[in-house]
Amino acid sequence: MTDADAAPGGVGVVVVAAGSGSRLGAGLPKAFVPLRGRPLLAYAVATAARVPHLVSLVVVAPEGHTDPLEPADPLWADLTLPPGAVVVAGGAERTDSVGAGLAALDPGCEVVLVHDAARCLTPLAVFERVVAAVRGGAAGAVPGLPLVDTVKTVDVEGRITGTPDRALLRAVQTPQGFEREVLLAAYRSGLQATDDAALVERCGHAVVVVDGDPLAFKVTTPDDLDRAERLLDRAATLRA
Ligand code: C5P
Repeated sequence: MTDADAAPGGVGVVVVAAGSGSRLGAGLPKAFVPLRGRPLLAYAVATAARVPHLVSLVVVAPEGHTDPLEPADPLWADLTLPPGAVVVAGGAERTDSVGAGLAALDPGCEVVLVHDAARCLTPLAVFERVVAAVRGGAAGAVPGLPLVDTVKTVDVEGRITGTPDRALLRAVQTPQGFEREVLLAAYRSGLQATDDAALVERCGHAVVVVDGDPLAFKVTTPDDLDRAERLLDRAATLRA
């Protein structure tokens, strides 16, 4: 985050890390669970910090854990944030956490990315594709992958009500990127959604899908953590 990067049109990234991670069962917030000795959040932030033209990086941490320099806070023991990064407290729902992060962004950013710390292995190229799509004129852009399974819609009794054309479906990931004003307006609407694109879509904006990456999977269960460890080992072997 240099002065040269602070030119108009800069990028802001909000990394949300305030979830409890109860499905991981690790006894600490998911983003702070270690992966080969480093918290998931450390990987996510290290990549986010390399986004070209970054002017603002906000980490949304669990309430009561917003001082990365607090020596008595074990969550931050193995984690150093890049200079200039800001930490704010999240809320009960992901939407609340994103809202808190957006409020702390530098007003100089034109493009805002919202990223799940739990998608800790997301490559930088995915961030770059999302930014390029928004800079290219899309109100929003999200990374997505085609589905391998056929998807069914069901009613409350579990009876199948439809089989959407798989070719038209995408499993979406983060970072999701938007023109800053579009995302702020979507958040002011007060709607709730499981991803940020859904809010922006409901406000009537076109959001495009760019190529995602299998490495951008979300660590949710202990199996996902094992998978992330294997992938890191493989990457280390390839580099050796
Ligand atoms: O719970 P889930 O895996 O969907 O969370 C996705 C991301 O959102 C995680 O990185 C998690 O830390 C974050 N989150 C948050 N605040 C919440 C819930 C989730 O920052 N209240």
